[in-house]
Amino acid sequence: MGPTTGITSIEQASIELKEAAAFIGQRVINREEVIEQAVCSLLTAEHMLLQSRTGAAKSLLAEQIFSMFDGARLFRVQASKEQQPDTYFGGLDLDQLKYGRIMHNTEGSIVESEFGFIDEIFDANDFTLRALLSVLNERRLMRGVQNVPSPLHTVIATSNYLRISEVTEALLDRFMFKAVILPDKDPFIQYKISQRYLQLGGRTAIPPKKIPYASLKHLNAIIRGEDSQFEISVSSELLYFTNIVIRHFEFLRNRSLHDKTSSGPQSDFYISPRTQAKSLDLLRALALLKGRSNVVHDDASRLYFIFATVGLPEEVALFRKAYTTVLNSLTAARGFDQVTVLLDFTELLEEIRTEPATMKQPLSQLGRGQIRRSFFEWVREKFGSEEPQERNKLVLEQFITDFVPVCDEVRELKHSVEKVFQQTMIVVERELNRVQP
Ligand SMILES: Nc1ncnc2c1ncn2[C@@H]1O[C@H](COP(=O)(O)OP(=O)(O)O)[C@@H](O)[C@H]1O
Ligand SMILES: [Mg+2]
Repeated sequence: MGPTTGITSIEQASIELKEAAAFIGQRVINREEVIEQAVCSLLTAEHMLLQSRTGAAKSLLAEQIFSMFDGARLFRVQASKEQQPDTYFGGLDLDQLKYGRIMHNTEGSIVESEFGFIDEIFDANDFTLRALLSVLNERRLMRGVQNVPSPLHTVIATSNYLRISEVTEALLDRFMFKAVILPDKDPFIQYKISQRYLQLGGRTAIPPKKIPYASLKHLNAIIRGEDSQFEISVSSELLYFTNIVIRHFEFLRNRSLHDKTSSGPQSDFYISPRTQAKSLDLLRALALLKGRSNVVHDDASRLYFIFATVGLPEEVALFRKAYTTVLNSLTAARGFDQVTVLLDFTELLEEIRTEPATMKQPLSQLGRGQIRRSFFEWVREKFGSEEPQERNKLVLEQFITDFVPVCDEVRELKHSVEKVFQQTMIVVERELNRVQP
């Protein structure tokens, strides 16, 4: 890390990524959103699945995206059902095979590549797909006695249909980013596609400058909060807000699913905690793309990049609805301020919990650091300047009881804070009783 990766600032990185995205968009017409989504999958080191009917430039797009980088190995394969795992992991080592050991010679395989392009992935047989799962997910080849790490960063896979089986469902879960490309019907877009075809045939365009893979790795570290030089910050309020939006989206999706399938088996739309956690990386990637070193509400509005299938207007609209509903509810009547106050209050409780003895001191001594003024302002208003040393528990309890939520989102948070309060008091009482002689 450091100066060798060429990242000088978040703003500069954002400009270079936007230029790269624009260049890809010059070659592959009318794919702006999918391109931005792909940039996000590269920034977050996740995989992406592109679906469309044949001839919609899926392969071209994947090739053009990877051609923007330098210093990374690209493994490409056209899947077919006769293929065995060795197509992906390298031929079997015959010497080892004599002793009954299955060992792949991984040189040049997906196992030793940073990028992968798997064209028509669902043409592969289930046996091969299953073998691919751990490489995609764990970034390790784990077969028999062989267990080796893989530097695999991002795989873009394409498909022109969806084959549903147990393994394809598991596979879909490995592709955090999904897009469906609907056919381009607009005559002007058709015209531009033809124009490009006259210039380049089916070839990719050669970019004027490439992004070093080391820079991409560095950006990925920044996004994951693993870089000491650059930080993209996410406030507690935003974190809380984002989680409500995601949960509301889950609710809306399930409601619309149940409306559609009033009879017959009901399948649930489920967001795994893994995906929910990954949404943080995406938030930071979206902020970085805007040249910001902090995440704002608007970034959360684009989380449909992983929670919906880009290109399916219905799904995207539902996510936007979840976002707007929660945003409006919290913006009206200072809901966001209340969330801030309550989250600050939980930090105060956290401090008390780790240091129960502080309950015997004036609470205002805790007012330093992270905790904001709101709670102490209330204490002063309620009790004057007199420190209610003996009544700290009452003070804390009173604060939460007196708190009047302005909307359902805050009401729910208040309930959680009440629970945290009760748990904290149990810890405090146990500790203080034990310590006393
Ligand atoms: N949106 C587009 N922009 C540029 N070229 C396109 C576009 N759609 C189709 N084409 C042309 O069609 C060709 C076929 O695309 P291809 O990548 O093979 O499609 P797919 O992989 O989806 O079957 C491309 O090489 C390109 O010449
Ligand atoms: Mg193709």
